[in-house]
Amino acid sequence: MRTRPLKVALLGCGVVGSEVARIMTTHADDLAARIGAPVELAGVAVRRPSKVREGIPAELVTTDATALVKRGDIDVVVEVIGGIEPARTLITTAFEYGASVVSANKALLAQDGAALHAAAEDHDADLYYEAAVAGAIPLIRPLRESLAGDKVNRVLGIVNGTTNFILDKMDSTGAGYQEALDEATALGYAEADPTADVEGFDAAAKAAILAGIAFHTRVRLDDVHREGMTEVTAADFASAKAMGCTIKLLAICERAEDGASVTARVHPAMIPLTHPLASVRGAYNAVFVESDASGQLMFYGPGAGGAPTASAVLGDLVAVCRNRLNGATGPGESAYAALPVSGMGDVVTRYHISLDVADKPGVLAQVATVFAEHGVSIDTVRQQGKDGEASLVVVTHRASDAALGGTVEALRKLDTVRGVASIMRVEGE
Ligand SMILES: NC(=O)c1ccc[n+]([C@@H]2O[C@H](COP(=O)([O-])OP(=O)(O)OC[C@H]3O[C@@H](n4cnc5c(N)ncnc54)[C@H](OP(=O)(O)O)[C@@H]3O)[C@@H](O)[C@H]2O)c1
Repeated sequence: MRTRPLKVALLGCGVVGSEVARIMTTHADDLAARIGAPVELAGVAVRRPSKVREGIPAELVTTDATALVKRGDIDVVVEVIGGIEPARTLITTAFEYGASVVSANKALLAQDGAALHAAAEDHDADLYYEAAVAGAIPLIRPLRESLAGDKVNRVLGIVNGTTNFILDKMDSTGAGYQEALDEATALGYAEADPTADVEGFDAAAKAAILAGIAFHTRVRLDDVHREGMTEVTAADFASAKAMGCTIKLLAICERAEDGASVTARVHPAMIPLTHPLASVRGAYNAVFVESDASGQLMFYGPGAGGAPTASAVLGDLVAVCRNRLNGATGPGESAYAALPVSGMGDVVTRYHISLDVADKPGVLAQVATVFAEHGVSIDTVRQQGKDGEASLVVVTHRASDAALGGTVEALRKLDTVRGVASIMRVEGE
């Protein structure tokens, strides 16, 4: 074993960073044996130097992350600050100064992944980010390496624990959205400002990263269609139950049926209770991958939290250190397929539509005609009437989102349709 240690600069020592430092210290001997050289924590950059940080020698702590990265003797920079700046500049500076980088920063990678990969390649360095998607769950490396000989057609995932906790609460207790969110906040599953989670921004960043790797195609954050889950109601869950489904906020990355393009989207969707993703409870994450040769694979586990996320960071750290000792780099960006990324209109799926209609003869026929005129074939219809008003629940066969959009627009114009109470996609069949 080499005795000269590999030097690691830790940028950020919060929820994730403090666990990275703890594991590096407590598992130092095992890590050294697995890597083939000891790893030394050379410095820890933070914002508030006076904060007590258990197990971190005070002399390692600095507020000058740039100086730490520019020391010139750092082998690996672990970026767990988060956000776009200063993380982006620190990572590119790390490459310029000869270091490889491990990051957990989904927001940055979804936005600037291509440029960061190019910077890593220019400097013969590694950029690893297993922790950026679904915390502890091995996903990036399985997609990038284990499935490199297969053809991935679909990635369907619950990649945000906060939203899964809220939807699971609504499902199991009949609670409304606000009540379930309040509980998630009280238990520490939701942040004081939950926008990034409940509006699907966090999941969209992960979808962009996953789609890019799965389809060997650059998928930008802007390419991901995003809908949040704040408008999911207890009534939606009742409808889902009536058709043997539950509701999940899903990140869905798909190859088109003709294989010529891909799509990436995040939205709430009904999913059959028989689908493995339906049984993912609480704040857990799971990602279901469908590929030509392997068939169906499911990756499941804790998608966040200090120690689980640090597990993924440490796995990357070991891999990057091994590469460094071998004078090699691991796989970089693979975007050779360069498939066009289509918009939501081209997505083909099934829909569950609830309409408030007048309870009188001929309404059903009128509604069915509108569906037929737009090429959307109906699978089932359920009607319930009371006091001259009725609700009509239509479940369609597979149709394009564009066709469904046209259907709904036309339905709204019918005198007999009082309103479109909800539209939900049905996935996982
Ligand atoms: N938390 C999770 O469960 C989880 C899961 C997956 C991925 N991630 C990702 O991991 C990253 C870190 O998340 P986290 O939850 O650990 O965040 P956090 O608890 O807020 O920690 C951020 C750390 O960065 C430090 N920091 C902030 N600005 C800085 C600056 N300008 N220079 C130097 N240090 C600075 C903070 O210093 P102070 O300690 O002095 O405030 C803190 O130590 C993010 O990219 C996040 O998306 C987190």
